[in-house]
Amino acid sequence: MRILLPLSLSLSFLTSCSSDPAKAATVDDPLVPPRGLEAAALVTSADNPLTAAKAALGKQLFFDPRLSGSGKMGCNGCHYPEQAFTDGKALSVKDDGKSNTRNSPTMHNVGYLDRLYWDGRAKSLEGNVGAAWKAQLGAKPEEVAARLAAVPAYTKAFQDAFGAPPSETTIVQALASFLRTLRSGDSAYDRFQAGQKDALSADAKAGMDLFQGKAGCVICHTPPLFTNKLFHNVGIGMSAENPDVGAAAKNAFDDPAKKGQFKTPTLRDVAKTGPYFHDGSVATLKEAVKLMAGGGLANPNKDPLLADRGLTDAEIDQLVAFLEALSGNQKFTPPVVPQ
Ligand code: HEC
Ligand code: HEC
Repeated sequence: MRILLPLSLSLSFLTSCSSDPAKAATVDDPLVPPRGLEAAALVTSADNPLTAAKAALGKQLFFDPRLSGSGKMGCNGCHYPEQAFTDGKALSVKDDGKSNTRNSPTMHNVGYLDRLYWDGRAKSLEGNVGAAWKAQLGAKPEEVAARLAAVPAYTKAFQDAFGAPPSETTIVQALASFLRTLRSGDSAYDRFQAGQKDALSADAKAGMDLFQGKAGCVICHTPPLFTNKLFHNVGIGMSAENPDVGAAAKNAFDDPAKKGQFKTPTLRDVAKTGPYFHDGSVATLKEAVKLMAGGGLANPNKDPLLADRGLTDAEIDQLVAFLEALSGNQKFTPPVVPQ
């Protein structure tokens, strides 16, 4: 279910940045969106209204290895805060020792997505978190709930947040609440948009013009989230013998036209989230930009929106400079996990 931001939030945004846009609008309150995301609608759950108490508890749980089958891996085992909650690896290894087949995506701004995972198979953040907890961490929810119930600090935190003890439902709801507060904005680009004309370098500004114009990126990487939240085939991995078919695997009719479609990823914080694409096959941002500006990789289902834009190497560098200006300035303080 989609909920628009309360009017008071949009009004306070208007008044706070009308006078001096250069003053950083860094917000400490996890429930208030950063500059640049005021107009984006957070996708919330009617069963799980967002509160600061749930988000603070979810933050502890995200970093707590008690959540895993082995007792050794937390969600942060693959989603590192300093890399915009990605892990710098092409493919990661799960708690059970098996390898993932897809690259760990950022957690920044996941609260704005209505379909999650690279193929969109999860229809809610709660659904995604419940699945990731079991698949990545090999968790048995009842065992983990019992383990947490034995820790007095957790018993109190669950009571304060939910008026209920740790359970599969409350653990999932707390984690999803925390993720909804991981919002990345107030980047150089957002400050530029708010009127601070020197926020972007000349190269980044030229890159922005290319992004919105000749390079055609904005069709799919649409502001403010820099994703249209849709699925496209850009050709990554499609030359393999048994390619990952992405969104087609989840289509009841196995629609061949959907073969190889993956979710358009956000480009906010993209400078920190390499290696790139759903299989982590491209190491650097410049190579990834070159591939996209060159029209993707040829295959029978490639999206017709992609074309070789004929950009020079200098123009590719300008696009990279623009993407670097999409890094948010939020500070993240890791939680103290209860002992
Ligand atoms: C072993 C590595 C690993 C661990 C641990 C892990 N994840 Fe992930 N996460 C991934 C990978 C890989 C994907 C992409 C899978 C796909 O798209 O099929 C992913 C995707 C996600 C997504 C979807 C994001 C999007 O943009 O669609 C969310 C949300 C998420 N993980 C949350 C969590 C939570 C919460 C935990 C802890 C309960 C967790 N992850 C633990 C590797 C991991
Ligand atoms: C037709 C829609 C579409 C257009 C146009 C498009 N992209 Fe993308 N982009 C995607 C999709 C979908 C992916 C993910 C593909 C995958 O991993 O299989 C992606 C991935 C990326 C990535 C990797 C991000 C990550 O987190 O792994 C970068 C960087 C990127 N695009 C930049 C650009 C640039 C720069 C342009 C313009 C030259 C552009 N894209 C044009 C849809 C598009």
